[in-house]
Amino acid sequence: MGSVALCLLLALGLGALAASREKCVLSGAWRNDLGSNMTISAMDATGGFSGLYLTAVSATNATILESSLKGFQHMGQAQPTFGFTVTWNFSDSTTVFVGQCFVLPGGEEVLKIMWLLRELVDSPSNDWKATRVGTNTFIRQRVGDSTRHDGAW
Ligand code: BTN
Repeated sequence: MGSVALCLLLALGLGALAASREKCVLSGAWRNDLGSNMTISAMDATGGFSGLYLTAVSATNATILESSLKGFQHMGQAQPTFGFTVTWNFSDSTTVFVGQCFVLPGGEEVLKIMWLLRELVDSPSNDWKATRVGTNTFIRQRVGDSTRHDGAW
């Protein structure tokens, strides 16, 4: 076989591989390394989505309640970037999350996320202590899946 034909075959093979790359879908049920759960709706035409977030932890002593989330994902990517906001309905804080949806080699989907949590403070002089930052990893929850990850990600 000539080298041109070989190159063509290689290019076709690589093209097919890229096309078959599994798509990471944000919609569904997810659980993170803290034990928090969230469900995300189907995307609308603009990449907008809504959902519910039940955090396992809180910086407050208030009783934790399920809170709404709203966000956007980039459309047209196999492993899209996205962002969403939760205005907690049991505290005065707001958290923004930004991340990317990945499909691992074994087919499992994970969300790698960074967040900023803004607490309510009474004056600008307390601004310095009002923001926390952190990361979370979410994995998809399947029907009947009760596996609980405890931080060994
Ligand atoms: C609050 O404490 O005022 C509201 C709850 C905040 C929970 C945070 S948001 C980032 C981190 N990831 C979680 O799943 N929960 C915590």
